[in-house]
Amino acid sequence: MAEITNTIKHVPSPLARQTLLDGSLTRPVADVRPRAILPWLQVVKIGGRAIMDRGAEAILPIVEEIRKLLPEHRLLILTGAGIRARHVYSVGLDLGLPVGSLAPLAASEAGQNGHILASLLAPEGVSYVEHPTIASQLAIHLTAARAVVGSAFPPYHHHEFPNSRLPTHRADTGAFLVADALGAAGLTIVEDVDGVYTADPKGPEGAKAQLIRESHYSDLAQQAATLPLDPALLEVMANARHLPQVQVINGLVPGRLTAALRGEHVGTLIRTGARAD
Ligand SMILES: Nc1ncnc2c1ncn2[C@@H]1O[C@H](COP(=O)(O)OP(=O)(O)OP(=O)(O)O)[C@@H](O)[C@H]1O
Ligand SMILES: [Mg+2]
Repeated sequence: MAEITNTIKHVPSPLARQTLLDGSLTRPVADVRPRAILPWLQVVKIGGRAIMDRGAEAILPIVEEIRKLLPEHRLLILTGAGIRARHVYSVGLDLGLPVGSLAPLAASEAGQNGHILASLLAPEGVSYVEHPTIASQLAIHLTAARAVVGSAFPPYHHHEFPNSRLPTHRADTGAFLVADALGAAGLTIVEDVDGVYTADPKGPEGAKAQLIRESHYSDLAQQAATLPLDPALLEVMANARHLPQVQVINGLVPGRLTAALRGEHVGTLIRTGARAD
């Protein structure tokens, strides 16, 4: 009978003898600031409901503004899902569909908005790209063109967390995750209001609502009853590695996006948990 020998090759590595489950052992090796992959990139999330659902009246001016910004910035433009996702949620919930089935349906609506925007920017060489391309071929696309468009929804799809009947990781969360992972220069979230207010400016308390010019992610959830952002965005901001802040702006006001991308404070700045070192 053949002798049984242990043939595991021992690869020298600081993590070789650890299970990866003990934080006190992995932290000294893993808790370092990652490299910024695309430090020149500006990520812009265009609201599905705030901009895309309004049609030509809101979309054409922002397309024109983006067109003029192209010589100045290299952009990843990500679109939210808007009203069609709300409809698909209500039909799906009525049918008892699980959250993991609802997430990809809503994500496909965000993708449709992206296709619309990319078609309008196509004369400038802008195309819609799918998530795998964003993940691995963004650099070459942005070498060939000044901007690309994608879906802001993160591809959790059937793996969406079942802690709510509605997907918790939606367009704002997806845009932030990818912008922070790439080490982008900035993320601008384009809404139809001047920023984040103390209450919904279009709601019953709207007359009393005050614009919050600047806040920390941890304070925001307590300051406002509702937000124009996914609540999960604030959770992922806690663990940001690169982006020190995001700005929420009103895309219905001409020139706001241009000013925000030039680093001007024209909406609500939300500070993240990213460390400076
Ligand atoms: N505290 C708040 N401050 C500002 N706006 C708020 C607040 N609470 C609610 N809102 C409302 O949120 C609206 C924007 O809605 P929402 O964020 O769902 O749109 P969107 O970002 O375009 O959607 P999507 O996530 O599909 O892209 C604003 O028009 C405003 O009426
Ligand atoms: Mg929003």
